[in-house]
Amino acid sequence: MTRPVTIAPSILSSDFSRLGEEVAAVDRAGADWIHLDVMDGHYVPNITFGPPVIKAIRGASKKVFDCHLMIEPCDPYLEAFAEAGCDIITVHAEATKHLDRSLQAIKNLGKKAGVSLNPSTPEDVIRYVLDRLDLVLLMTVNPGFGGQAFIPSVVDKVRRVKEMIGTRDIHIEIDGGVTPETAPTVIAAGADVLVAGSAVFKGGTPDHYARNIAAIRAAAEGAREKAA
Ligand code: DX5
Ligand code: ZN
Repeated sequence: MTRPVTIAPSILSSDFSRLGEEVAAVDRAGADWIHLDVMDGHYVPNITFGPPVIKAIRGASKKVFDCHLMIEPCDPYLEAFAEAGCDIITVHAEATKHLDRSLQAIKNLGKKAGVSLNPSTPEDVIRYVLDRLDLVLLMTVNPGFGGQAFIPSVVDKVRRVKEMIGTRDIHIEIDGGVTPETAPTVIAAGADVLVAGSAVFKGGTPDHYARNIAAIRAAAEGAREKAA
């Protein structure tokens, strides 16, 4: 199944002093989803924001709130993220002892469930939870910071995950170092959702955001056409 390319700007690279306006600006600039990077200073070496901030910006866009939890443990906080207005909640396989239980908990909250894998984590960990999944997020940088360089060895993993998923209705999302230059490689390998922080917010104005999103989308769709 070929899904449309989805672009999910990460607000990690936005101006936090104007977070609501920034969410509204990328929404108008053509974002399909809004990607929310939640970091705890424990699972990853950085701290960002949590449910109260997400709740505060929920009204700024009607688009899908795509929440990427980089927190350990995650289970005690899933309900708070659901209540804050997240539509998709993704946990790291490496940050939960009982992945199947965490995914079930997300589904029981009525939300879409995702699992994220760091660059060094083999894709086998998702084999027995495929039936619970709406999304697989493959990290193409080590989680914790925006603006890092894309790790090309993950492209092969994208291909293998695509094969594993088969005809199931599961998104493959790529996160880290996505630019118009790197997007085609992962799209050609089977990804359909692209997270981009610095490549979307560079320039710092709504006009830049629109041009940046359009450039990533054009590069991704170009790769699709070439593969067809
Ligand atoms: C990293 C985050 C990413 C990050 C992407 O831990 O999960 O979403 O913000 O930023 P760029 O696109 O700048 O690599
Ligand atoms: Zn992310």
